[in-house]
Amino acid sequence: MSDVPEPTRRPEWAALENHRKDALPQPDLRELFAADPSRAERYVVHVGDLRIDYSKHLVTDETLALLGELAAATDVFGLRDAMFRGERINTTEDRAVLHTALRAPRDAVVEVDGENVVPAVHAVLDRMADFAERVRSGEWTGHTGRRIRNVVNIGIGGSDLGPAMAYEVLRPYTARDLTFRFVSNVDGADLHEATRDLDPAETLFIVASKTFTTIETVTNATSARTWLLDALGDEAAVARHFVALSTNAGKVADFGIDTANMFEFWDWVGGRYSYDSAIGLSLMIAIGPDRFREMLDGFRIVDEHFVNAPAEANAPLLLGLLGIWYNNFFDAQSHAVLPYSHYLSKFTAYLQQLDMESNGKSVDRQGRQVTWQTGPVVWGTPGTNGQHAYYQLIHQGTKLIPADLIGFARPVAELSDELKAQHDLLMANLFAQGQALAFGKTAEEVRAEGVPEEQVPHRTFHGNHPTTTILATELTPSVLGQLVALYEHKVFVQGAIWNIDSFDQWGVELGKVLAKRVEPALTEGADVPGLDPSTAALVAAYRERRK
Ligand code: F6P
Repeated sequence: MSDVPEPTRRPEWAALENHRKDALPQPDLRELFAADPSRAERYVVHVGDLRIDYSKHLVTDETLALLGELAAATDVFGLRDAMFRGERINTTEDRAVLHTALRAPRDAVVEVDGENVVPAVHAVLDRMADFAERVRSGEWTGHTGRRIRNVVNIGIGGSDLGPAMAYEVLRPYTARDLTFRFVSNVDGADLHEATRDLDPAETLFIVASKTFTTIETVTNATSARTWLLDALGDEAAVARHFVALSTNAGKVADFGIDTANMFEFWDWVGGRYSYDSAIGLSLMIAIGPDRFREMLDGFRIVDEHFVNAPAEANAPLLLGLLGIWYNNFFDAQSHAVLPYSHYLSKFTAYLQQLDMESNGKSVDRQGRQVTWQTGPVVWGTPGTNGQHAYYQLIHQGTKLIPADLIGFARPVAELSDELKAQHDLLMANLFAQGQALAFGKTAEEVRAEGVPEEQVPHRTFHGNHPTTTILATELTPSVLGQLVALYEHKVFVQGAIWNIDSFDQWGVELGKVLAKRVEPALTEGADVPGLDPSTAALVAAYRERRK
């Protein structure tokens, strides 16, 4: 394994460096479009319902060809095939990486250690569907016989962000007579605010944790049980008001949840890749099993595209390569995801875990310190709000921030006619921002408007800020699945080229261990040996102030 060359030592990497220096020392999108107006049509890739325009990138045909050569040299498609085959490509945890099996059709065969996992995937989906229908119809009642009206998902990281994001995205498809809340923070305020106006007799808690050892989730679930039992006064109530989503039946039973009320998934599903597994139960209750399956179909459209589309028309490959172009050859530090949709308000937060927990690594697959940049900082909020906050920095600051602009041709059906009419204004903002970021406004153009000379530099926009525009017809469950799978595979492509393990997350361990060590110092006033002087002083100040 150690003879795998570092990506930066490959001739294809050097070719890109030279290309950047010699052919595109100061790329100019006005010039690139003037030289080749056809790029507006040629630099578009379609997958499912997504039309992905990458014409406003600082690239030429030669750049794309050289990036393609890097992908070929690093054998991205070889690793992709190994992933889909169920090989243990998560080497540091010795696990297969098979979130794609979660959306495989019933008759597919995906083997892990010689066993086809697809029947088990569908068995769990069927159990989830049965349970979801019973809650939605009122057949599943609480301990006192009242129907469930509130569903509270307790989880964190991948056991929270996915269902919370998707619930928000698909709100127009949700059962509006049910209330959904998502509790993640170990700050008791989170659970308090989520439950303070709920009736325990009508509330179902879904405890979502792959490991069922995550301290935040176990703590919140314990407090939720106390809240429930304080009101209902009977231990037997737990069985009607708590279900678990986990890979760890033993810990679920230890917690006191009947494993008959557990929906299983498997160690080959990473937390940040898990919301289309049992972790999506709250979402399935919200939107119903049919819509959930439509979403899985959307994931599958992109999975199949990633496997079958040729390199030059392979959307995840292209997006991954474009990210690498800026990250490694322009020193871009971050990547903005800017949806022009209120319903996608949590989408970027979801992508932060997907991307940053996957590719925030500084050691390669062979355990060598990397000397090249890996995952970017991913950030962003819905675009129109961002325009009045941080877009100034993107337009006129000193940093290069590639961005994805995501929009829809149609507003959601349930809006009133008046609110639907606002959609054109929303989308006009998306298109205008893409244009302004790419082409800016020259000093001559500013002067021609009669602007006083001393103000000209302040009002000039240099442009050349690259964007990808992802346009879909309508925000449906399938389109959400397509979007998520697109980003999942983009992250995969980048990790493959950087030669890192995108599927472990050892970096979150140290903080967890230290928190456990520090806690007794706070709650019991115990002496904690080994605290550094700064932390010891902070602990002392905290103890003093909490008196
Ligand atoms: O933050 C680390 C992490 O392990 C994530 O990868 C995961 O999504 C989250 O914690 C929650 O883990 P679990 O589902 O096991 O509670």
